[in-house]
Amino acid sequence: MRSKIVAGNWKMNTLPAEGVELAKNIVAGKGSVCECVHFIVCPPYTHLSEVAKVLAGTGIALGAQNCAAEEKGAYTGEVSAAMIAALGCRYVILGHSERRQYYGETSATLNRKMEQAYAHDLVPIYCVGENLEEREAGKHFDVVKAQIEEVVFNLTPAQFARLIIAYEPVWAIGTGKTATAEQAQEIHAYIRKVLSEKFGAAAAETAILYGGSCKPSNAAELFAKEDVDGGLIGGAALKAEDFLAIGSNGFGK
Ligand code: 13P
Repeated sequence: MRSKIVAGNWKMNTLPAEGVELAKNIVAGKGSVCECVHFIVCPPYTHLSEVAKVLAGTGIALGAQNCAAEEKGAYTGEVSAAMIAALGCRYVILGHSERRQYYGETSATLNRKMEQAYAHDLVPIYCVGENLEEREAGKHFDVVKAQIEEVVFNLTPAQFARLIIAYEPVWAIGTGKTATAEQAQEIHAYIRKVLSEKFGAAAAETAILYGGSCKPSNAAELFAKEDVDGGLIGGAALKAEDFLAIGSNGFGK
């Protein structure tokens, strides 16, 4: 049985006190959602320590949105995997399209970030997805396959067993334009097939999340698909009510 996961990527939103409030509201409302749902929240680095205190003992897990590719040292402005792990993070989002697009993250960088994450017992939420041009040219399968082969295929079986994948089509992120449930299922099943070619039966256990304008009104349809194991939520994760409703609409109360 694969985990059912609803993860919130807050991106660069909320001030620390607002983040604490948001986390408190998520904790307060969690009882309205099936216990089968594993919630993860990924606030900005600056909020991690305070949000960790709010989440302690609630079953809601903490993640970061990124980590450095290096262990430690003279890397001004970077935050290491060891640092976020020390603050209570269990997860780290890596390879988000915004990092690839605006900060030039390549597979070479991401391989090093993945190593750092595993070295500090973090579970990477590795993001893949095509842009609009690639989708329209029918290249989405090839794009996603390359993003997996160049990074995930370098993992050991033990590392792979501790990996979450998020499929986030760039054209659906923050645009209000969601992939249809059929489009999501088609590519999620393809991703699982690619993973199984390298890792065999273990691929059947990998949680593959959908991300891109996921909201309470479309969660049920998306999460009903066989290979869609939950969502990585941006905008709708900034309202506790919506974030929780994605869990309850998608997986039950
Ligand atoms: P939106 O839910 O705002 O489209 O963002 C999705 C995303 O990028 C999550 O990582």
